[in-house]
Amino acid sequence: MTNANKQTIFSGVQPTGNLHLGNYLGAISQWVPMQEQYNAIFCVVDYHAITVKQDPADLNKRIVEIVRHYLASGINPKKSVIFQQSAITAHTELAWILNTVARISDLKKMTQFKDKAGKDQENVSVGLFDYPVLMAADILLYNTDAVPVGEDQKQHVELCRDLAKRFNHQFGETFKIPEVIMRKEGARIMGLDDPTKKMSKSASSPVNYIALNDTPEVAAKKIMRATTDSGTEIKYDKENKPAIANLLTIYSLLDNKTIKELEKQYIGKGYGDFKKDLAEVVKNFLVKYQEKYNSYTDEEIKTILKQGAKKIKPIAEEVLNKVKTKIGININ
Ligand code: TYM
Repeated sequence: MTNANKQTIFSGVQPTGNLHLGNYLGAISQWVPMQEQYNAIFCVVDYHAITVKQDPADLNKRIVEIVRHYLASGINPKKSVIFQQSAITAHTELAWILNTVARISDLKKMTQFKDKAGKDQENVSVGLFDYPVLMAADILLYNTDAVPVGEDQKQHVELCRDLAKRFNHQFGETFKIPEVIMRKEGARIMGLDDPTKKMSKSASSPVNYIALNDTPEVAAKKIMRATTDSGTEIKYDKENKPAIANLLTIYSLLDNKTIKELEKQYIGKGYGDFKKDLAEVVKNFLVKYQEKYNSYTDEEIKTILKQGAKKIKPIAEEVLNKVKTKIGININ
């Protein structure tokens, strides 16, 4: 299935919570142009989702919804592979093997685990702790060259690299070492209510994020209500004006203008004008996005997932088989 002359990218999204502009701008929209240049594989990581409690019926719906988001964003199933993680059992098998290479101290360092588990580290699931190892398995199974993600996943990709190197060192050259790819601007979209924290599906305030399923009117209101900084100038200054810097980043990525162009456009104008225009940009983006989102039937989506898994299963099985041979458990 993959073209040997092209490099491979792999990435994924969890079917939990509401997908938001951070997921779109930091990750998914970045994948769209990459489809031309790479063998592109995009996963719906359902086994990651169950590391925290999920309602089964809800989870089932969300798996299909993630594919809708991929398609609405411009992922083309004729060019890229879209599949469900649990459809290829090699993911959990390789995760188990990598568990024997990963150390507890590696996982204890993971910022996301510390954030998600909070003060309750002893009572969260073992799966939540082990989640980065499953992510490493996802990536390594497809001889991945690069992993395009938002900044919050960088540490997990680094761990994946470390595990791959450790395995190769112990058992001989087996895994390709993947690189992380992040946007220069937009790898960390911040919360609209608090520009010091990332925009997050699990944020307690709905004003924190613009969900890709928000009605365009609600989204526009959220922009108008977004926190701003002191002063009046529309200037990109992450340190002193984090709220405006975040809004400028969103504006620039959605409207395809550079931040410099936007700064120039708003010389002499205030936050009110700026937010009103950005609200309009977000509104127009969502109208088009949601039209596409709603244009697929569940049946079409299920077919895309099935065909995707069928296409790439042989790659995963070949890599897993190689690993099994290396560690000495293949007896044929
Ligand atoms: P997840 O589902 O939390 O997020 C999906 C993608 O969205 C990015 N992202 C952001 N980017 C910019 N600003 C934000 N505020 C923001 N919030 C989220 C994330 O960085 C991510 O790229 N563990 C992963 C899923 C995963 C995966 C993989 C990714 C599982 N296996 C293998 C790559 C390769 C996760 O939970 O992402």
